Amino acid sequence: MTVRQLFVTTALPYANGNFHIGHIMEYIQADIWVRFQRMQGHQVYFVCADDAHGAPIMIAAQKAGITPQQFVANIAKGRQPYLEGFHIAFDNWHSTDGPENHELAQQIYLDLEAAGLIERRTIEQYFDPEKSMFLPDRFIKGICPKCASPDQYGDSCENCGAVYSPTDLLHPRSTLSGATPVLKSSEHFFFKLSHPKCVEYLKTWTQDGKLQSEVANKVKEWFTPNEDGLTGLSDWDISRDAPYFGIEIPNAPGKYFYVWLDAPVGYLASLKNYFAKGGPLARGETRSFENFMASPEVEQYHFIGKDITYFHTLFWPAMLHFSQRKTPNNIFVHGFITVSGEKMSKSRGTGIDPLKYLSIGMNPEWMRYYIAAKLNARVEDVDFNPDDFVARVNADLVGKYINIASRSAGFIGKLFDHRLGALSPEGQALVSQLQGQASSIAQGYEEREFAKVMREIMLLADQVNAFVDQYKPWEAAKKPELRDQLWSTCSTCIECFRLLSLYLKPVLPQLVSSVEAFLGVESLRFEHATQRLGAGWEIGNYKHLMQRVDPAMLDQLFELEPSREIAASNTPTPSNSPSAKDASAGPFIPGGEAIAPEISIDEFAKTDLRIALITACEAVEGSNKLLRLTLDVGEEKTRQVFSGIAKHYQPQDLVGQLTVVVANLAPRAMKFGLSEGMVLAASHAQEKEHPGVFVLTPWPGAKPGMRIH
Ligand code: MSP
Ligand code: ZN
Repeated sequence: MTVRQLFVTTALPYANGNFHIGHIMEYIQADIWVRFQRMQGHQVYFVCADDAHGAPIMIAAQKAGITPQQFVANIAKGRQPYLEGFHIAFDNWHSTDGPENHELAQQIYLDLEAAGLIERRTIEQYFDPEKSMFLPDRFIKGICPKCASPDQYGDSCENCGAVYSPTDLLHPRSTLSGATPVLKSSEHFFFKLSHPKCVEYLKTWTQDGKLQSEVANKVKEWFTPNEDGLTGLSDWDISRDAPYFGIEIPNAPGKYFYVWLDAPVGYLASLKNYFAKGGPLARGETRSFENFMASPEVEQYHFIGKDITYFHTLFWPAMLHFSQRKTPNNIFVHGFITVSGEKMSKSRGTGIDPLKYLSIGMNPEWMRYYIAAKLNARVEDVDFNPDDFVARVNADLVGKYINIASRSAGFIGKLFDHRLGALSPEGQALVSQLQGQASSIAQGYEEREFAKVMREIMLLADQVNAFVDQYKPWEAAKKPELRDQLWSTCSTCIECFRLLSLYLKPVLPQLVSSVEAFLGVESLRFEHATQRLGAGWEIGNYKHLMQRVDPAMLDQLFELEPSREIAASNTPTPSNSPSAKDASAGPFIPGGEAIAPEISIDEFAKTDLRIALITACEAVEGSNKLLRLTLDVGEEKTRQVFSGIAKHYQPQDLVGQLTVVVANLAPRAMKFGLSEGMVLAASHAQEKEHPGVFVLTPWPGAKPGMRIH
């Protein structure tokens, strides 16, 4: 087999925040593929970097009172715990603000200019009259000119994927000030994507069968002019005016590359930086970075999410090709991860905090396995469902796979001096059967059909467990006359366990490294699938390899931080809960969040709302958020309820007022005592921009204890 040379990347995350579970999913997908390739004996160069530039980061740094360089350095410092924690084995992590990227981006630009594909035009651009600055695309929102989807950013549509310029948006507004932006002219640089040679080239590049079919079809739509005459391939505005955090355009003072020009160049810059650090040399790579990149046998792959397809299937190959560089062999596009069916909100984060996942002691390989078990090669979203997670990890990973070792290894150690025995013909047949699946499993990994591979492996584990059930080692162990059968059964299990471990190794690197130590074998690669340990092979002491998930961990994972939880428990729809709706979902967003899914009258009737009289109210020592309310709900004794309204109400103003309480909510033990209900209050989802929390009060005449229907 020829040794392939693979240059693999994941998308470069914006350096304006920590990783969320979507990033981790992408890294896990790519990491599994990379580890698989390495197990095939191929050479992989797997790199990533922070995407450091752009106006949002500049503005965030300004707000924080530090330079953008300091800002991105702080973010970069936080990357390692995530990557190590989830066993993501990048060879290098760099930054698009590194010197390599400045140099490469400028060179690529000059090459494109020499190819006649750069044009200067004075354009009118949106300017925020209140903030006195040109508005970055991401700070303008309006209606998509292609699909009419409301609340879309100025550069691209999250609904239909179209990329356009902000002036194409209908009903634009500045998200910095809320003002309607005005047009102001400035000279800009354009990459002439609409040039016939570009269009021709990209038509071929995107439609020659390499791309996933749904990606190729989507791209085809972008080529097709629509009714309002907007062709998909319009020229691309690649410049921004100072002040901007980015790379200066050569020979154009005060002009910077738009972040998406230099961002993908960061793939090359990270690899170049890796070469400069000597990593490839240490691996026996003697070519320079330039020679490596010029080698026709080097294959280049980018793993990305569906939202950035346009940049990677049109701009990026065009930039590379017309600057006489090698283009990617493929772009692997994945869908988004949702949590319990809900889209994560970029602005409010997600239901799963990856570091919290690790800090509460959840095993990273559970997540890797779960994601693998859900991922295919299509652009489909993947849902993280807590019950499904527990079931798959406990029933499949531990219950089927790990179980094979725990059912057999102890006997080999105790009764057979750690040595494997000869296999029965049935045992031989079973092992051969598992060995026979190697090429189909390898093909599945190669094609990124991970869910299919996990299913295949679990079906094999089922067969091994059925074999164990047939020969019942725990019973055979009690009968001296069945000693040989017991030995053969358990030896078969260990042979099978080795093979299943080999097959799962791209997904479970740490676990399988323990398995390798326990079995006393060298680092497993796919070619080892044809081998067997054989009679007489000595194995180590078996220690339990993986715990089951305790479902309580998932409750803990999804529990909101205490302070937020208390505040949230006083609004009818907690805006920061994992089930909260994305605020950017529609044109009319009452109170900043979409209306919750429809319920029936019976479902509503489960909530018992009562009129309550606030008979006493006091501040809570040790909390600046909470008030302790004593409520008369017409029962024989009063209730104590904590409410996160201390910043909005003086205790004495509430005493004697009527309000509404959720009377049948399960009592909650809190740091300061038991809370026996929840007072209703209204607030806007974006509390910062729309401050205030408003406690509900009934019209006069209502009496404590009356039910609200
Ligand atoms: N900085 C750009 C990429 C530049 S690549 C030259 C960017 N950054 S990002 O941080 O917003 O996203 C990084 C990657 O995470 C992208 O591939 C994106 O699709 C992916 N994801 C973001 N949210 C996601 C999910 N909810 N699920 C899965 N992947 C998601 O875009
Ligand atoms: Zn659209």
